[in-house]
Amino acid sequence: MSPVPAQLPAQIVDDPIAVRAALLDWYDLHRRVLAWRPGPEAPRPDPYGVWLSEVMLQQTTTPHATPYFKAFTQRWPTVSDLAAAADEDVMAAWAGLGYYARARNLLACARAVAGEHGGVFPETEAGLLALPGVGAYTAAAVAAIAFGRAANVVDGNVERVMARLFAVETPLPAARPDLRRLAGSLVAEDRPGDWAQALMDLGATVCRPGRPLCERCPLTVWCAAFQSGVPERFPLKVRKADRPRRHGTAWVLRDGEGRVALVRRPAKGLLGGMLGLPTSDWTAAAGEGPAPVPAPADWRDAGAVEHVFTHFALTLEVRAGEAQPGVGEGNFVWTLMEDALAALPTVFRKALQRALA
Ligand code: ADE
Repeated sequence: MSPVPAQLPAQIVDDPIAVRAALLDWYDLHRRVLAWRPGPEAPRPDPYGVWLSEVMLQQTTTPHATPYFKAFTQRWPTVSDLAAAADEDVMAAWAGLGYYARARNLLACARAVAGEHGGVFPETEAGLLALPGVGAYTAAAVAAIAFGRAANVVDGNVERVMARLFAVETPLPAARPDLRRLAGSLVAEDRPGDWAQALMDLGATVCRPGRPLCERCPLTVWCAAFQSGVPERFPLKVRKADRPRRHGTAWVLRDGEGRVALVRRPAKGLLGGMLGLPTSDWTAAAGEGPAPVPAPADWRDAGAVEHVFTHFALTLEVRAGEAQPGVGEGNFVWTLMEDALAALPTVFRKALQRALA
C-alpha cells in the first residue's frame, strides 16, 4: 500500500485492510451488472471493452452509454476492427454521445494500438498514457480493471467517497490532490480492478451526491462524515461566483423541403466539432447593433432563449427565415428538421424549437 498521508483520521490508519475487505465483500454481493463488466467468475475483461467503456463513461451516464457500447462492440468487435473503420462511420455511431473530439481521439488511439502495438493494449499505466487521447483517468482505469495493476483510479464518485470517509473540510476543487492521496492510501495489489469499480458503484448507488443511503453502506463504522451526522455536507464546494452573461444571435434558416441550415462548429472551443445553428459571436454587451446575417432572407424575430454553460450564461436572440431556392446551398449542412432536433446540442435545440413555436 502507498504511504498513508499524515492527516488521515486515526480509525482508518488503524485498519485500511478492514475497510478494503468490507467494500470488496459488499461489491461481491451488490456489484452492478453492466454491459462491459463480465460476471464475477469470468477472467479479466477484454481491454478493448474496458477502454471503450471508460471513454464513453467520461462523456455520459451508464444507462446512456450502454446501447452505444453494445452497438460499437457488435459492429467493431476488436480494436483492430475499430482502427480499420471509416472516420465518418465512427463519427455517425458516436452521434448523441457529444464531443466529436473524443470520437476522433478514440479512433486515433485505436489506430495507434493496431498500428504500433500489434492490436494489443499496453498493460502499464505509463504505456497506456502514451497512447493518443488517453488521459490519467483512463490509463489508471484500464491498467486496474483490464490488467490488474494497482493503479489509483479517481473519478468524481471516488472523490466524493473519499471526501466523506475522511470528512475532508477543504472544498472542491482545491481538495482534489488530497482526495487523490487519500484514495491512493487504500489501493493495494489485491483486486485493484474490483476495488476501483467497487468505489465507483458505491459512489453511484449508495454514497450518492444528494441523499446518501448510509443505512446500506458497508463503510459507516470508518466514515467520518457519517459520524458527523451530516454526511451530505461533504464534499464541500466553493460556491460558483455568478456567471458572466453573454449575448448573441442564432439564425434558423429553413428551405422548402423541411430542412434547416446548420454549420459544423470548429473542432476546438465550446461545443467543438458539433453541429450548430449559424450564430453571431457571443459577446459580453447586448445590442451591439444587428449582426451580419448568414444569408439573405426575410428574417423575423422569434424571441430569445437562455442557456447556462459552465463558465457563462447566454442569451441567444433567435431570428427565423425561409431561404430562397439555392441560397447558401454550399455554405450549410442542410439537415432534416427531426435529425437536427436529435443531433443538436441543447442550446441550439432550444433555439430551433423557439423558431418552430
Ligand atoms: N464509471 C466509469 N467507469 C465505470 C466502471 N468501470 N464501473 C462503474 N462505473 C463506472
